[in-house]
Amino acid sequence: MRGSRLFSAVPVCAILSFLLQFASAQTSSKPVDAEGHQWWQHAVFYELYPRSFADSNNDGIGDLKGITSKLDYLKDLGVDAIWISPCFPSPQVDFGYDVSDYENIDSMYGSLTDFDTMATEAKKRGIRVILDFVVNHSSDQHKWFADSKSSKTAEHRDWYIWRDGKGPGVPPNNWTSTFGGSAWKFDPTTNQYYYHFFYAEQPDLNWRNSAVKDAMFEVLRWWYRRGVSGFRLDAVDTLFEDPDLRDNPVISPNKNAFGDPIEESKYNTKLPEVHDVLRGLRKVADENNAVLIGETWTKDVAELNRYYGQGNNELQLPMDFLFTTVNKLSPAEFRKQIAAVDSASGWPTFVISNHDIIRSYDRYGDGVHNDDIAKLMAGLYLTLRGTPIMYYGEEIGMKTTPPTRKEEVKDPIGVRGWPKEKGRDGERTPMQWDESANAGFSAATPWLPVPPTYKTHNVADESKDKDSVLEFYKRVLKLRHTNKALLDGSYVPLNENDQNVLSYLRVFKDQAVLVALNMSGAQQKVNFELSKNGFSSSKSLVATGNSSAQGSVVTVEPYGVFIGQLVK
Ligand code: GLC
Repeated sequence: MRGSRLFSAVPVCAILSFLLQFASAQTSSKPVDAEGHQWWQHAVFYELYPRSFADSNNDGIGDLKGITSKLDYLKDLGVDAIWISPCFPSPQVDFGYDVSDYENIDSMYGSLTDFDTMATEAKKRGIRVILDFVVNHSSDQHKWFADSKSSKTAEHRDWYIWRDGKGPGVPPNNWTSTFGGSAWKFDPTTNQYYYHFFYAEQPDLNWRNSAVKDAMFEVLRWWYRRGVSGFRLDAVDTLFEDPDLRDNPVISPNKNAFGDPIEESKYNTKLPEVHDVLRGLRKVADENNAVLIGETWTKDVAELNRYYGQGNNELQLPMDFLFTTVNKLSPAEFRKQIAAVDSASGWPTFVISNHDIIRSYDRYGDGVHNDDIAKLMAGLYLTLRGTPIMYYGEEIGMKTTPPTRKEEVKDPIGVRGWPKEKGRDGERTPMQWDESANAGFSAATPWLPVPPTYKTHNVADESKDKDSVLEFYKRVLKLRHTNKALLDGSYVPLNENDQNVLSYLRVFKDQAVLVALNMSGAQQKVNFELSKNGFSSSKSLVATGNSSAQGSVVTVEPYGVFIGQLVK
């Protein structure tokens, strides 16, 4: 009865298109195990900032040949996919997030041939390449924008968002740029304002124009044809704006670091239309067995769920930045956040550092036990149910090193917001390869100074020290690739009232792994009463210091990690 009513109410073509969509999603997804997991659920991702990773031509800026030369290192570390922050032609106002040609490589990073070589070499090592897709805006130097600003009747005029001011010198509304000042810039050529959520050099594309959509989708296909395995979608929240351009509510009498009113971005972020685009992008991703990672700043899991889409038809990996808002070593707070994302409607994605936020080494470090705490954080997010996205240098304990004087600042938001906002240079410093000049990153002076810690925290030295942060990362990553419970097991929190030790099981069929993370500076002994779960003891798989188990009792060193296989 219900079936026939459904049939009579829904047009046959809609049903057919639904079925076709379903069929295509089914055929394009290639499971990597008997449980139907996809490659991106088992992969460890690694974000690298190309300016800062490895400089092959010694001009002080990293490049693609530099990345290629380090693929063996990444393979050995246990990385399955690299996400490269934008390496396309760009005037570099926002260090690549201002793209002037989506289908090329900036000459400072090399050429398309270098890209192809890098991709081929990566593939040989089983490493996939993910690119950063800057969907919301282009550079003001893009040919589309050059044409757009040339006249009101230009072919590309409506590819960007142009409006009359409210009066002489008064922008169309009160929206402020997240990088400071009004979000509108007056252009005297046509006496109109254009809209930019970020810098004025990053005009917003008009996603309501189907020609823009077509062109951007074609960019994706172009890179898929070149062999990329997916994209990290930049600033997806900001794709659409209220067509009536209503003023945003001002929510505080105070001003932000840039001296601007504090607004709720009600009418220029997270509009429902974003999801139409994401569904479309997902369809193309599925056709290419590719992954979409989202830069999704969500306020809670309900909002995160929207990015997975109904029936998981949008982003496979929307990043859970809420995890990075837990800014102290608090088992209770981590438990809460892990439980929240574990209950999300899609596969969790964990991040603890990236190119926009303070490195985890400093977020959690107490200045004395930072290396132990770095291992503790690795022991946490690399053993949770979900996909981790590492950030270059995290694995050797690189610290955030912000500029100390305004004159040194490279990131424009640091110049504009100094001293309250120092910009993001601190988390983008060159990778520390060895103890030689410039940390082995380049023979020339690097574009950002190398932090003095390169003498103690670098790949070469840490590779020789079995207790280093790097060796710990390698051990945990190796385990995670081979242990079924860590790959696919469910997350079962344990001892939820413990204020010092965060512990949980990862359970897959009759196998279980116990993870105990001591977030305090004192040794802790925890009785897990394993017999209640049908086990007698746990056999150490990876542990720091003297952390160990005897029967059901696990002793964890200060800021220590114990990971053990449960034994019947
Ligand atoms: C994203 C990027 C950030 C960039 C901004 C504008 O937030 O992560 O680095 O500045 O988008 O593209």
